[in-house]
Amino acid sequence: MRTPLVIGNWKMHGTLAEARALAGGIREGLKRPRGVQVVVCPPFTALAAVAEVLAGSPIQLGAQTCHHEAAGAHTGEIAPPMLVELGCRWVLLGHSERRKEIGESDAVINLKLRAALVHGLTPVLCVGETTEERRQGLTFTTVEGQLRAGLAGVTAAQVGKLALAYEPVWAIGTGVNAEPSQAGEVHGYLRGLLSELASKEVAQAVRILYGGSVKAENVDGLVAEPEIDGALVGGASLTAAGFTAIVKKAARVGAASRE
Ligand code: 13P
Repeated sequence: MRTPLVIGNWKMHGTLAEARALAGGIREGLKRPRGVQVVVCPPFTALAAVAEVLAGSPIQLGAQTCHHEAAGAHTGEIAPPMLVELGCRWVLLGHSERRKEIGESDAVINLKLRAALVHGLTPVLCVGETTEERRQGLTFTTVEGQLRAGLAGVTAAQVGKLALAYEPVWAIGTGVNAEPSQAGEVHGYLRGLLSELASKEVAQAVRILYGGSVKAENVDGLVAEPEIDGALVGGASLTAAGFTAIVKKAARVGAASRE
């Protein structure tokens, strides 16, 4: 069975003081999270401070992106070994905001993903369709293209080491989450593709998270879907109360579905 995974993506939010307070609140609220794995992804500037606050706690640290080279003349970029040195174990890759705002292509995302694996970071590959793509019936085509390109040249064993996040662009930051069955259908499709790209066993082990307007009020229904293994949370991860409530519900529903 897959252990539910809940990741907080803080995006471009938080002074150092705010990040420390948020991490402290989450640590306090989740002293011994059982049956759930928890990760927070603060902005780069707060990684060291948050690592200090979370030291010795089961809550793990992730980054929101990375460069694909280990070092070099790449002004403004951050290399995977720098993240590892700060205590990061996870990295989000291919988030729709980076695809859209920075112009990250599938090819670049693939380079980053392979580099992350080489340096021992667990990549969370994000895929998802826009409103227009869904309207045109291109949801499955879009996520399939993103998944195949993102995992090009990745071995079956490496596929087993990563996580996926299905984040429909129309659901991000809009307050309108995908219906659980609607997301579950896409997750099932992605898992089928993973079976083909790696193996059935590997596909069964990979966590596929849902992201897009997840909050404490809707997480139960989402994670009750057998194919939804947790959540990638934006806005609602910015308060300790909101995030810990989501984590606790995901753990409870995950445990119930394993009974
Ligand atoms: P919201 O939870 O704010 O919709 O953001 C989702 C997201 O993009 C997480 O990566």
